[in-house]
Amino acid sequence: MMATKCWLLDPPVLLLLIIWNESMQCNGFTVNPPESISVTDPGHLGQLEITWDPPKGLTDMAECSVTYHLEYFNTYKNRWSAVRTSRRTYTTQFDLMKNVEVRVYTLLDGPCTNNTVIKSKNYTELIQNPPNTGVTGTEIQDFTCVFHNMEYVECEWRRGPKTPANSKQNLYYWYKSLELAKECPNYVFLDGVRIGCNFSKKSLPNFMDVIFCVNGSSPEGPLKTTFTSLKIQNQVKPAATEKLYLQAGGDKLELQWENPAGSVPGQCLEWQVEHNQEGPNGKISKDETLVEDTSLAFPLSTTVKKNCFRVRSKMSKYCVDKGFWSDWSHQVCHPEKTEVPPEPYRVPVYLCAAAAMIAMLMLPLCVWAMIKMRNSKQEKKLDSVLTNLFTKSSTRVIPDV
Ligand SMILES: *[C@@H]1O[C@H](CO)[C@@H](O)[C@H](O)[C@H]1NC(C)=O
Ligand SMILES: *[C@@H]1O[C@H](CO)[C@@H](O)[C@H](O)[C@H]1NC(C)=O
Ligand SMILES: *[C@@H]1O[C@H](CO)[C@@H](O)[C@H](O)[C@H]1NC(C)=O
Ligand SMILES: *[C@@H]1O[C@H](CO)[C@@H](O)[C@H](O)[C@H]1NC(C)=O
Repeated sequence: MMATKCWLLDPPVLLLLIIWNESMQCNGFTVNPPESISVTDPGHLGQLEITWDPPKGLTDMAECSVTYHLEYFNTYKNRWSAVRTSRRTYTTQFDLMKNVEVRVYTLLDGPCTNNTVIKSKNYTELIQNPPNTGVTGTEIQDFTCVFHNMEYVECEWRRGPKTPANSKQNLYYWYKSLELAKECPNYVFLDGVRIGCNFSKKSLPNFMDVIFCVNGSSPEGPLKTTFTSLKIQNQVKPAATEKLYLQAGGDKLELQWENPAGSVPGQCLEWQVEHNQEGPNGKISKDETLVEDTSLAFPLSTTVKKNCFRVRSKMSKYCVDKGFWSDWSHQVCHPEKTEVPPEPYRVPVYLCAAAAMIAMLMLPLCVWAMIKMRNSKQEKKLDSVLTNLFTKSSTRVIPDV
């Protein structure tokens, strides 16, 4: 009966079926999905162990190789992933604040199936909902980690909009070679509140997923937990360049700079050069160039009054998936003209302000002194007191007070 069904198919459809062949049941073999799937949480911030049992009745079948096709919803990548394994267990990472969804099929192969792979028609499935704990709106926001010049890692977050004022947040982290999740070694505080965690270079590994979990408690109950998965080498922010040289030679300007000191590999950096030109009319035009080397030459135009440059760097995509721009270096200019210091203009302003302050303080003092003097020396006329006070120095008044 099965053979007739196959025989009726058009050759192209048949070919397609052969390509997809695993579900082909033409030879009449069928297999059941695995039994009793379960997941266990060893306390690794979402790394779960999925286990299942073989389908019933398989033990009777000689000359069969049994494997499994596992599909799970990858909550960090937001798509389904699939793996094949001959084992009855598989370990992978889930975001525990989202649904855990897992499906397993049985695959049969070998002489018992005439050497075609047979996949079970159905799967055994497990859907686990996230724990419904934590007050809504208390989960942290904008979790970011920056690997500063590959020297230390600073992770920071913002509080959720509904986080009660007197709540306490905790950060835990885990990666593959850790037995158990660890708590933040060094919290960062702002006004006595935890807003981040500072890790030394050695406490986090490169080229490995590191899972961060921020949870907490408050008088109104537990805070909602947040999970984040990051690779530390993708969070590098190089230090700003400090050594920058500009040389004018003939008809060109040569800009050169040095890699930031520290452990960032220079060959992994790409650079952005910002060029500001001041035209004859005083107008400033700006352009930016991306380069991989640590030098760049510019034609020296006679119509340009002034050329200024600054640079910043980032880990290139040849070394890592992503990174942060460093801060800008200081600016170097040609012709080199020291900027006009603002002091000569500010000093008179300060003096004026000081004079105005003294005048404002002196006025009530004068009035008070005037009244006092008039009371003690009734015969003196008001006019003469006033002229006396305003024409002579204030030192005369103060001892009187
Ligand atoms: C097994 O497959 C071969 C070709 O691959 C075919 O000739 C043979 O008839 C098949 N046997 C059975 C029992 O289906
Ligand atoms: C496949 O299995 C799921 C549960 O694992 C079940 O709900 C569904 O009805 C099954 N489908 C068929 C066609 O047997
Ligand atoms: C984190 O640690 C590094 C080095 O130990 C230090 O330079 C930096 O200022 C610290 N950051 C904060 C926010 O405390
Ligand atoms: C936060 O998570 C850690 C690690 O899973 C756990 O040990 C701790 O009890 C949790 N704290 C709160 C307040 O939920």
